[in-house]
Amino acid sequence: MGAGKRVLLIIAGGIAAYKALDVIRRGRERGLEFRIILTKGGAEFVTPLSVASLAGSKAYTELFSLTDEAEMGHIRLVREADLVLVAPATADLIAKMAHGLADDLASTALLANDRPVLIAPSMNAVMWQNPAVQANVATLRARGVVTVGPGAGDLACGEVGDGRLAEPLDIVNAALRILGDGPLKGLKALVTSGPTYEAIDPVRFIGNRSSGKQGHAIAEALAAAGAEVTLVAGPTALGDPAGCKTVHIESAAEMLAGALKALPADIFIAAAAVSDWRPAAEAGQKMKKRDGGAPPRIELATNPDILATISAPGPKRPRLVVGFAAETEKVVEHATAKRAKKQCDWILANDVSAATGTFGGADNKVHVITATGAEEWPRLSKTELARRLVAKIAETLKDKAR
Ligand code: C5P
Repeated sequence: MGAGKRVLLIIAGGIAAYKALDVIRRGRERGLEFRIILTKGGAEFVTPLSVASLAGSKAYTELFSLTDEAEMGHIRLVREADLVLVAPATADLIAKMAHGLADDLASTALLANDRPVLIAPSMNAVMWQNPAVQANVATLRARGVVTVGPGAGDLACGEVGDGRLAEPLDIVNAALRILGDGPLKGLKALVTSGPTYEAIDPVRFIGNRSSGKQGHAIAEALAAAGAEVTLVAGPTALGDPAGCKTVHIESAAEMLAGALKALPADIFIAAAAVSDWRPAAEAGQKMKKRDGGAPPRIELATNPDILATISAPGPKRPRLVVGFAAETEKVVEHATAKRAKKQCDWILANDVSAATGTFGGADNKVHVITATGAEEWPRLSKTELARRLVAKIAETLKDKAR
């Protein structure tokens, strides 16, 4: 995929530096070539020798080393790169980048750089939330620096929270995306994901148990394949997927507005579990319990069908529209009828009866209904299913005239 593209990888001094070794390995598997700079701190966590052995080229560490500068000056290191990747990016190096400091080889190379920059932050969760770090990251983003991660989870310091280095493969995929590789390069994709919340009053809502895992995984897989992705996401516990523009909404009406705003798109995947109804009127104040009184009656109104709206024939209809059908019985039959009714190209039908554990679970099992019939896919992780769907999309759109 990344054949011959050159990445200057800067490894800063964080405990996650060991994962940079895997970034090199996975990147090389995908055809990327690496030159490496280790900061002084980075070299405390991984040795120049292990980095160089995996990269197949020397790791540079010292700004004022005469041999290093003679062999490969800091200017040439960046000029000869197609992308500069900082992984892990520590709070310190992020601050140096934001403020233009240049007191070692890594920061000097970054200041002399005119190539795209991708950073993968990694640090303690409280540090990551610190307004100073957030302001520095915002400054870098405003200058066009792309970030991947950090993710949530157990941190090396024993605490739990946001701050984990993104997974090595996600970092490599983000790099490939910037380098402009991938079968969906040049295409725009729109994905809806998660549940919608329909307000009853300022504190109560009607919602559902959708986790958003499948839709978010699809958005990320589309982005990894080079598409420019807008994800319109209902409330979920998930972080924003790497490489996507994520628009956070709550209600079906907001989801429809967010989706329409992202058009035109080449691909639309409706993976959200949109609430079919909403309270006809949202109470302006929290509804009061009246002792001994009857419970309130909530009148419902029908929500717009986002999939059917976007899939309807018209100049803005995406070239490929994919819907989901969550069924508990006669899965293929019901989904086939739904495909016709909603005028979408494909329907991914899944059995969500309680015993399957699909809702909120890590796996999914679908039948893919197209104009030519139904294909049964094996049970797959939601990430794997997303990759397989994206491969099918790439294959289908490859032959269609743009
Ligand atoms: O009609 P049903 O809800 O079973 O259809 C499911 C498919 O339609 C999913 O792809 C879902 O994202 C989409 N949908 C929608 N807007 C609605 C209801 C469903 O986009 N209001």
